[in-house]
Amino acid sequence: MQLPDPALVVLVGASGSGKSTWAATHYRDQEVVSSDALRGVVGSGPHDLDASADAFGVLETVVAARLGRGLTTVVDTLGLDPLKRQAWLAAARAAGLPVVAVLLDTPDTECRRRNAARDRPVPARALAGQLRSVRDVRPVLEAEGWDLVVAVAGVFAEPAPAVTTETAATDRTSSLGLRSFLQVSRFPWGEDPLAWLSSIARAADEAGFAGLALMDHLIQVPQVGRAWEPIPEPWVTLGAIAALGTGLELGTLCTPVTFRPAGITAKAAATLSALTGGRAFVGIGAGWFAREHAAYGLEFPPARERLDDLEKAIVTMKALWASGTKAYDAHGVALPETTSYPRPAAKIPVVVGGSGERRTLRIAAAHGDACNLRTIDEAELERLIGVLRAHCDDVGRDRSEVAVTVLDLPVVGRDRDDVWARVERHRGRTPAAAYASRTHAATVAGHRDRWARLAGLGVSTVFLATPDLDGPEDVLALRGLNA
Ligand code: UTP
Ligand code: MG
Repeated sequence: MQLPDPALVVLVGASGSGKSTWAATHYRDQEVVSSDALRGVVGSGPHDLDASADAFGVLETVVAARLGRGLTTVVDTLGLDPLKRQAWLAAARAAGLPVVAVLLDTPDTECRRRNAARDRPVPARALAGQLRSVRDVRPVLEAEGWDLVVAVAGVFAEPAPAVTTETAATDRTSSLGLRSFLQVSRFPWGEDPLAWLSSIARAADEAGFAGLALMDHLIQVPQVGRAWEPIPEPWVTLGAIAALGTGLELGTLCTPVTFRPAGITAKAAATLSALTGGRAFVGIGAGWFAREHAAYGLEFPPARERLDDLEKAIVTMKALWASGTKAYDAHGVALPETTSYPRPAAKIPVVVGGSGERRTLRIAAAHGDACNLRTIDEAELERLIGVLRAHCDDVGRDRSEVAVTVLDLPVVGRDRDDVWARVERHRGRTPAAAYASRTHAATVAGHRDRWARLAGLGVSTVFLATPDLDGPEDVLALRGLNA
């Protein structure tokens, strides 16, 4: 069962029906606001009924504060007071959060049995009253305006086993029908850069990634780190990784067309292809980071010109990689000969980066082997895929010849606690709920559900860049994504 997240979740059920147990299996401690626990905070213990008024006062404050921040809030009380339920529902609506009522549907006899077994049982008459209220509450809940009313059996099965960690099949397509590439964008390599790079690449290979991509920037970009953090030249670096003998495909995501004449990129990629037995690819885009161009004495022409250059660069590279050495003259590119040795050991896929609908996607449709899009919003992604396909139809290119790839920048944690610890570590001044939503913060299992949807939209490859790739153990922790 997949509940919306973040959301307000209000539990409804008699004593002993399993509300707190259900909440603890699905949510972090901090997300569950429990009247019993707060009785223990402001009173002598969870069953200190004299502390009820104070406990509920604190509960309301906590619920309001969390909802106001857009954070998941699970209200663990009996849930049988309709006025309280409506107030929580209204507060969540005001905060723009989905609202869910979870009804614990546990046999009366089981509630009585558990109650009797407790240190401080609820008096039998009180429990009988709760059980009567629960019996009649379902239609009331249905009429209250919850987005979702779910009944869960308060007798739980064991939690689902973790995703299998077996490495994917030889072509490295996962059971989701996706291939994933590790995009390395930060280089916290300490005193031994080559050792760090080697350990990351070997771990990526072992974790079932189909390939490894490096950013191509001259100064670290502000989205990733500080300007004085190392950002190595990617083609040199990929050459070092090529020497490790992994099965990884190697390339950039993305090389700005402004950095090198296209022929030089074609030469670098052909060399890498020869050195890796045909596992090179080129990601290429129009470039965007004006500062690095100025600092390195490179031209940074207006966007229209850069897009013209992007188109010509792909045409030039493909001309040089094609067999033979004959002259080339098409698509605005004229070369007196196309003599380029070593030959690529296999076709070198060109991944066009960028989501500009009018030009970039058209260039990808006309000349690319893949088009790389961002994944923040699935509806927007679906729309862009539609635009790409329309361009394919328009320029007479078979849609299947232009793969859809995405750059995914998620927060991935071992469990819900670890996920939120990472959100807290990386969010900077962005509110936690907004950062978690933007990064789809979840466990491996959660990301697999999302990746399955991406595959359903027609995505073939995910370039994965996580914000906390510090060492090989962080890479190995992602292996479940490739199963
Ligand atoms: P809970 O303590 O989860 O119930 O379970 P509750 O609904 O939150 O109860 P109140 O309202 O706070 O009093 C009650 C007992 O039943 C056991 C739990 O371990 C606990 O001792 N239980 C719960 C099971 O044995 N199996 C289950 O599937 C759920
Ligand atoms: Mg409880």
